[in-house]
Amino acid sequence: MIRDERLSATALAQIDSQVRGEWPTGEAADFEDALAFHESLPPEKRFATVLESADSPLLQPRAGVPRLADQIDLLEYLQMAGEADLLPTTIDSYTRDNQYEKAATGLEAARKSGADTLNGFPAVNHGVEGCRELIDALDAPVEVRHGTPDARLLAAVTFAGGFQSFEGGPISYNIPYTNRHDLATTIEHWQYVDRLAGAYTERGVRINREPFGPLTGTLVPPSIAITVMIIEGLLAATQGVRSLTLGYGQVGNVAQDVAALRALRKLGNEYLPSEVTVTTVFHEWMGGFPPDEARASGVIGLGGLTAAIARPDKIITKSPQEFRGVPTKEANAAGLRTTRQLIDMILEQDIEIDGIDDEQDLIERETRQLLEAVFEHGNGDVARGTIRAFNSGALDVPFSPSDSANGAVLPARDDDGRVRLLEFADLAVSEEIKEIHRNRLARRAATEGREQSFRMVADDVDAISDGKLIGRPGGVSNAD
Ligand code: 5AD
Repeated sequence: MIRDERLSATALAQIDSQVRGEWPTGEAADFEDALAFHESLPPEKRFATVLESADSPLLQPRAGVPRLADQIDLLEYLQMAGEADLLPTTIDSYTRDNQYEKAATGLEAARKSGADTLNGFPAVNHGVEGCRELIDALDAPVEVRHGTPDARLLAAVTFAGGFQSFEGGPISYNIPYTNRHDLATTIEHWQYVDRLAGAYTERGVRINREPFGPLTGTLVPPSIAITVMIIEGLLAATQGVRSLTLGYGQVGNVAQDVAALRALRKLGNEYLPSEVTVTTVFHEWMGGFPPDEARASGVIGLGGLTAAIARPDKIITKSPQEFRGVPTKEANAAGLRTTRQLIDMILEQDIEIDGIDDEQDLIERETRQLLEAVFEHGNGDVARGTIRAFNSGALDVPFSPSDSANGAVLPARDDDGRVRLLEFADLAVSEEIKEIHRNRLARRAATEGREQSFRMVADDVDAISDGKLIGRPGGVSNAD
């Protein structure tokens, strides 16, 4: 059975040659040649250096179109018109599913028709040379953002292609995304990705890794998200990753979001080995958006305000066209600028909000209990512990489509809009913690004059897109 152990040089070389044989562009992903390319890059393109040395939160959008020239134009536009600090390259869905043949057909169609026939940039098909052209053309660091459970070939090609940051992880790109990949297999696959990043790091090219914090993006209790971030961080650190950006997705209650970001940073630094530089990223709301650009900008602005108070190292912005899928470049830049305006106005202010410290304390206690359960399940081995804890339900993610997680916990907002758990199933938290959640939810039920039930959960899932925070029955409010 899998263990949280560093892959040997022989194992790395063996997997590397197998993975690179999966598609013709893999061959050019030569490590030594790639090191020389990375070394040729100026300091302003070194992702980890830029992120870790920033003194206020850096802004990064999502963006990916199929053709290379269009991708360069798009990213230059977002840098110019959106003032993006860090650039993304969002990978298309076929590549995420390892369907490079279909990605090739889509790319061909895009080249012929000029239309965006793929929903992202097929980096494997563009190959090492195409990626280097992109990196050369831009003057900011660029990250690979995707959602690929088996991202081995994508990592081999894009690292060799000059990208210095790579999103995702074995839990965060499995449990929320798919039911076709079992957890032990994705952990094994990501050990290769992280080991490869570690190998570059040892040769002086630090590859930043960013586990995907928002998970299912829907009412995820902060302690569950933070637990997953720390597990993925530990697994990556074992493989030699030294620059880690832990993520968290906005839930919309300012106090809870600020508390969660602070807990994420604190626990990340505490649990990860001291040789790892830990940074944090805040994702603007990942749930359903209002189908109205003005209202959507309000949600984005709230994200900007929250981030300005909590000061994560990076913010992933949304666009006011979120409800309709991939945004136009103008809308994408607008989301960046809305966020920037809020950040710049609020960074100057000292804002104190009651209850942040207590909330942070609660999040930390829950997270410690969950992590403890994972370590116990694995007799100290975090890889085994994770698989077993998801299996027993000691660790769980709400609304997970994966067979590797029970998906039995159910979240609901309390009377203040903070995300609590209505159904704990087998989650490894103490009775004392459960009581706090129950009391909070009981208060909401009393305000609304209804029983706690799945109805609340369903109402909450739609609340923000309906223009509210809490999914209350008509006419009820606690705002006084
Ligand atoms: N360009 C910009 N945004 C994208 N997203 C997905 N693909 C792209 C793309 N090619 C965004 C969605 C959503 C998030 C999960 O990713 O709009 O916000």
